[in-house]
Amino acid sequence: MSSFQVRFPVQVIFGKGELRRVGEVAKGFGKKAFLAIDPFIKNSGVGEEIKGYLKREQVEALVYDEIRPNPPYDKVDEAASLAKEEGCDMVIGVGGGSAIDTAKAVAVVVGSGGSSWDYVQRTDHQVAQLKETTLPIIAVPTTAGTGSEATLYAVLTNPKIKEKSTIINPRIFPKVSIVDPELTVSMPPALTASTGFDALSHAIESYINVNSNPISELVALDSIKLLSRYLPGAVTNGENIEARSKVAWAATLAGVAISHAGTVLPHAMGQPISGLYDAPHGGTIAACFVRIMEYSFISNLEKFAAIAEAMDESVSTLSVRQKAEKSIELLKRLLKDINLNVSFGTYGVQREDVPKLVDIVLKGFKQDVDAHPRKVGKEEIEKLYCECI
Ligand SMILES: NC(=O)c1ccc[n+]([C@@H]2O[C@H](COP(=O)([O-])OP(=O)(O)OC[C@H]3O[C@@H](n4cnc5c(N)ncnc54)[C@H](O)[C@@H]3O)[C@@H](O)[C@H]2O)c1
Ligand SMILES: [Fe+2]
Repeated sequence: MSSFQVRFPVQVIFGKGELRRVGEVAKGFGKKAFLAIDPFIKNSGVGEEIKGYLKREQVEALVYDEIRPNPPYDKVDEAASLAKEEGCDMVIGVGGGSAIDTAKAVAVVVGSGGSSWDYVQRTDHQVAQLKETTLPIIAVPTTAGTGSEATLYAVLTNPKIKEKSTIINPRIFPKVSIVDPELTVSMPPALTASTGFDALSHAIESYINVNSNPISELVALDSIKLLSRYLPGAVTNGENIEARSKVAWAATLAGVAISHAGTVLPHAMGQPISGLYDAPHGGTIAACFVRIMEYSFISNLEKFAAIAEAMDESVSTLSVRQKAEKSIELLKRLLKDINLNVSFGTYGVQREDVPKLVDIVLKGFKQDVDAHPRKVGKEEIEKLYCECI
């Protein structure tokens, strides 16, 4: 067995109704919170509810609801100036990955100065160092997808160059995450499907990642199991709190998995589409996922066989090769069941964009490319892009 490391410093409070604990949690980190909250969630009444819980514990909230999907780094920098001026002691991110990542990046800039873009991982600049003074982060997810509540990542967009990149640092693991599945009930079917598929992609990509380890594999397989069984139910009946709970937990587990072994080629190829076209994250991953898996399963039949078994235990009597092939069929079936039928063309991608996209992949997502189980270079990535339009 090779060496590995387990690191999960996040306190997760999971369960229906646990949002009420946000005041008691925040009290442990100071007296004033920068509350980065998704505008839909704020207006649904949850904003007032959270302010009430905070007030009860004498924590003041500076409400910031200018959350943009695929958060632009310059908006984040403005938000950080506000948080700094107002002397906030902590950040609370309430919403999907965009709200939580905005909160994380604000915590970074308030604590370490400069611009949030200075901290993203890219091969074309020197990545700035985070200081110990990074503000404490509390995460409250309202989508069940990104797993940002359990990760050391914050994904930002640079609107000037239309590219997306990620801050990767253990200092941005949330101190506490409150995962209350009730908050996800308001998601419409299409959003449930695309965010839920993002979670499944995290579980599968971390599992097949060449850097996976026993802990990431363990949690990834459980996440795959839960999502295969419960995501279709959460899509067709959003009020089904049992299905919502299983999907929310699976998304958090998949976050744990990608924090130990990152994502691979689907994320490397999907994320640049969000940067160029402001397309929804989960959709861009779904657009290329099956094609990339078809191309890749041959590289590790055992792992793809285990994925098939996690998705549907009735395959257990098949041979390893048959199971591995079956994993592709099961993925196609799941996408059909959740009615998620997208291609890169759906988001406006054209063939002439491909060379630029490949360039972004190799500059901003090299780590994911290098960790993919089947080795790919410029030409293969270019071909896969063309096939997914
Ligand atoms: N930090 C990480 O570890 C990590 C991992 C994967 C992806 N990401 C990033 O997260 C972002 C995507 O996050 P996302 O997919 O959660 O979407 P999002 O946060 O961009 O939100 C998408 C939409 O859903 C709405 N919404 C949120 N919660 C809702 C609810 N309960 N009911 C109804 N509508 C709701 C929002 O108002 C918004 O319109 C991307 O930028 C992606 O790159 C981060
Ligand atoms: Fe993702």
